[in-house]
Amino acid sequence: ADVSAPPAAAPRDWEALQAHIASCEVCGLHAGRSQAVFGTGAVQSPEWMVVGEAPGEHDDRVGLPFQGKPGLLLQAMLASIGVLPESAVFFTNLIKCRPLGNRTPKPEEIAACLPYLQRQIALLKPRRILVLGKLAAQALLGSDADLEQLRGRVHHIRSETGEDIALVATYHPASLLLRPQHKADAWQDLNLARSIAP
Ligand code: URA
Repeated sequence: ADVSAPPAAAPRDWEALQAHIASCEVCGLHAGRSQAVFGTGAVQSPEWMVVGEAPGEHDDRVGLPFQGKPGLLLQAMLASIGVLPESAVFFTNLIKCRPLGNRTPKPEEIAACLPYLQRQIALLKPRRILVLGKLAAQALLGSDADLEQLRGRVHHIRSETGEDIALVATYHPASLLLRPQHKADAWQDLNLARSIAP
């Protein structure tokens, strides 16, 4: 898959980008979606941008990210470090359309959708990005390292418009539901992200 060829030039305007993604048919996932899930939350240089993997069944139906069980755990974890629902957070995913059966997104689907996430980052200019799970972390960091290597420290990525943006990767809440022994590490990662200076 050619990551350097963005789908028909993603718009540089936030509303136009949202409309563009809503009607995107670049990869096969559009065939199985109810709707694309663009993301939701604070859009003026938010304190946090939280990036998950892909919409689940509820998310696809409602049109918003993190509506299911992993979302509840995510909200509880954020609340435990003082990030409350009214805080400035924008939630989105690496992949905007639900993979049927919640299967893992394919490399070509990630390549097709990553330019949208990159554009969202450039337009939002979040203070910090919290990335959930290996796939989204690898995509944003351009790495093939395991999550264990990527979590536990602050990375810096450059947005399309040249801003330096701090990024912390941690376990995906769906994986924490299966492996609660990683919750302490995830909590450390969230605290690390919170401690990033302005
Ligand atoms: N819902 C989302 O929106 N993203 C995930 O990664 C998981 C569930």
